[in-house]
Amino acid sequence: MPDPFTAHRHAKPIQAEPVQTIAIAGGKGGIGKSIVAVNLAASLGASNHEVLLVDGDLEMGNIDQLLSLQPAHTLSDVVSGDRILGDILLQGPRGVTVVPSASGISKMARLSQIEHASLVGLFSDLHTSADTLIVDVATGLSESVVSFCRAVREVIIVVVDEPTAMRDAFATIKVLHETCRVRRFRIVTNKTESTRHGLDVYAALTQLTDNYMDVLLDYCGSIPSDPQLKLAVCQQKSVVEAFPRSPSALAFRKLGARVARWPKPQTPCGHIEFFVERLIQTAESTR
Ligand SMILES: Nc1ncnc2c1ncn2[C@@H]1O[C@H](COP(=O)(O)OP(=O)(O)O)[C@@H](O)[C@H]1O
Ligand SMILES: [Mg+2]
Repeated sequence: MPDPFTAHRHAKPIQAEPVQTIAIAGGKGGIGKSIVAVNLAASLGASNHEVLLVDGDLEMGNIDQLLSLQPAHTLSDVVSGDRILGDILLQGPRGVTVVPSASGISKMARLSQIEHASLVGLFSDLHTSADTLIVDVATGLSESVVSFCRAVREVIIVVVDEPTAMRDAFATIKVLHETCRVRRFRIVTNKTESTRHGLDVYAALTQLTDNYMDVLLDYCGSIPSDPQLKLAVCQQKSVVEAFPRSPSALAFRKLGARVARWPKPQTPCGHIEFFVERLIQTAESTR
């Protein structure tokens, strides 16, 4: 099979700053991974960051719907070689550029590890001034989830206070630790009733992982269960834009401020990752 990914690649890498790269994972469906991805992106965008928000749910993407966007083309067209990445970008909330995925294209669920790596590699050639890339990964632990989480520096695990969600968060952490050697996970508790509740959920998850593996779980705060967030979903807007003073929007602003303080990667990590060429250039220029 000809490699569609190489067809449009430019020869010259781009001279630019390193990009913070973050995956939003968690295992279980419906816990708020996409909501966290969209609203973290919107809150960073609102505070003058430039964010590339990638819909990494290649099979059933819904970032476009959450933000009322109508993509003419998606990552599926990039994979088939019909479009280049730069063609499919859409303008989201302030400061946010969206890379949309299709919904219901089953071949996208069957990409190999090499094809995922090629997809990640295409971002290196993208002319973008983004300082942060956020990838919303699919539910479950498919190849795309593992590939995208391997290709970023920071993995945020979203968890809610339900036994099934706890078990899926644990399974996600275990698999990423064992297969991708991720040691530090950033934890966001969602749909919480109070600050205390969020901390309790985090403590329960830490207790689970401490018994089985050597990982560090960094608590990044909680997002309250918020009817205004549901309203924003119905209006197909981020809650940060639709109801900026709502409890969940305030929590997302706090999360955004925290994420903005994380140090950016400066050197390549040794395997396929987003914007690796920039890291190679940065490492060489500081040598
Ligand atoms: N903090 C919250 N408060 C109220 N509803 C929420 C919250 N987080 C998520 N939801 C609801 O859960 C639904 C599923 O969230 P979503 O991000 O699509 O889940 P996932 O991506 O993990 O499958 C949302 O459409 C929204 O209605
Ligand atoms: Mg989702």
